[in-house]
Amino acid sequence: MVKPEPKPSDADCAMATNEDPHAAPRRRTTDRVKRRLDDVPVSPSPNAKPRRRTGDGWLDRWADTVSDLTRLRGSHPMVDAVIDEQVGRRIRIGDRWLADFASCNYLGFDLDEEIIAAVPEYLAKWGTHPSWSRLLGSPRLYEEIEEQMTDLLVCEDVLLLPTITHIHTSVIPVLVGDGTIFLDGRAHKTIYDGAMYAAGHGATVVRFRHNDFEHLEELLHASDPALPRLIAMDGVNSMTGNAPDIGEFARIAREHDTLLYVDDAHGFGVIGERTPDELCDYWVKGNGVMRHLDVPYDNVIMVAGFSKAYSSLLAFIALPTRMKDALKVLAPPYLYSGPSPVASLATTLAGLQVNRTRGDLYRAELHRKTRRVLEALHRFGIRTPNRSGYPIVEVPLASHEEIDEMGRYLFEHGIYVTMAAYPLVPKNEVGFRVQVTAANTDEEIDELVQVLGSLKDHFLLEQAVATV
Ligand SMILES: Cc1ncc(COP(=O)(O)O)c(C=O)c1O
Repeated sequence: MVKPEPKPSDADCAMATNEDPHAAPRRRTTDRVKRRLDDVPVSPSPNAKPRRRTGDGWLDRWADTVSDLTRLRGSHPMVDAVIDEQVGRRIRIGDRWLADFASCNYLGFDLDEEIIAAVPEYLAKWGTHPSWSRLLGSPRLYEEIEEQMTDLLVCEDVLLLPTITHIHTSVIPVLVGDGTIFLDGRAHKTIYDGAMYAAGHGATVVRFRHNDFEHLEELLHASDPALPRLIAMDGVNSMTGNAPDIGEFARIAREHDTLLYVDDAHGFGVIGERTPDELCDYWVKGNGVMRHLDVPYDNVIMVAGFSKAYSSLLAFIALPTRMKDALKVLAPPYLYSGPSPVASLATTLAGLQVNRTRGDLYRAELHRKTRRVLEALHRFGIRTPNRSGYPIVEVPLASHEEIDEMGRYLFEHGIYVTMAAYPLVPKNEVGFRVQVTAANTDEEIDELVQVLGSLKDHFLLEQAVATV
């Protein structure tokens, strides 16, 4: 017979009450309870794996599963680093200065003088942080941003919440209810986590092969059309730097009367709509993948944030007004979470202004500098999955074991990048990711190119097949 789980004792609650958990009598009780818990037979776990016990080393097993990352975090200068100082896109770690190619501040708004100068006036008016949840009350700045964003994206309405992660975990469960989420096989971990929250609320999660329309359609045909259905995927992919054919996915969503949910964290601010006088292939306004691919918002919810291209802690959903009204009472971050800091609302508003006046010049710079990096890789015969020309340039290693050494080599040669270790990426894609920003100087790009050119003498890299 399965014994019931023991009720928490006073000792279990010691940390939750302000009592000293280290007091001697308490500790003895805690030890007794720990021993008792280890002896209690527990019900079988739902995923057929052994249930965790306090003393069975489950944390060590976890660390072992993600051993590459654990090792890098413990010892690698480019993981979990403390940055001591920053001048432009040069950063200092200890006594070493490096060119920063790990920043997602694509437009360089974090360093823009006009944007920085705009902040004090907002702080003087609103303080640093009014701290109401949005349902309680929002500074007028939210209304202004939502209106300007609705115009920029050319969508029906926009709702602001603090981060994309908040949006995924709160909005996906609301949209799908007890229906089915069709999750792209390479969807960003934060979308996956949102889907897992939804599963906890009764939804079913099925995965279709990355970017595979046919597989998606097969799964849709086999699903119950009477229940809510949601297709969830990335816009510009955070690793490959490429965008899927959103138009085709949106067509499938409409045809099956489902919703398509797109996370365009890396496209918003960078790529935008077409005009006759565009300065580069990213086109103009940076209003995201939907406008770039000229896809209507029917049956589509687009999510993105300001924390990359706009250098501000804030995120948004482009959605119909009726859905916005519903989310105002259904999405927990609108009800309970603290708001974005006033400085971030200020830099978003100032960023939107700069985007209108100079944004396309920044995008042209970003495009030019990214092109230099892609052309260099092409010249050196080094493979990158980037086919789009967008500023995320991944370089996979032929052997994932070389990641430590490769990272160290880049660091020692003054180049700071994002390490793509397992399990952040599948083992066959372990490598590093270069993010180019408009604020990187040409000298920094020269240094990067020179170091990239020397990699093949020291490491096994994949042979180039992509064309620039
Ligand atoms: C595709 C994608 N979605 C979501 C996030 C998380 O965004 P936020 O910091 O706004 O939660 C990231 C961050 O790296 C991302 O790359």
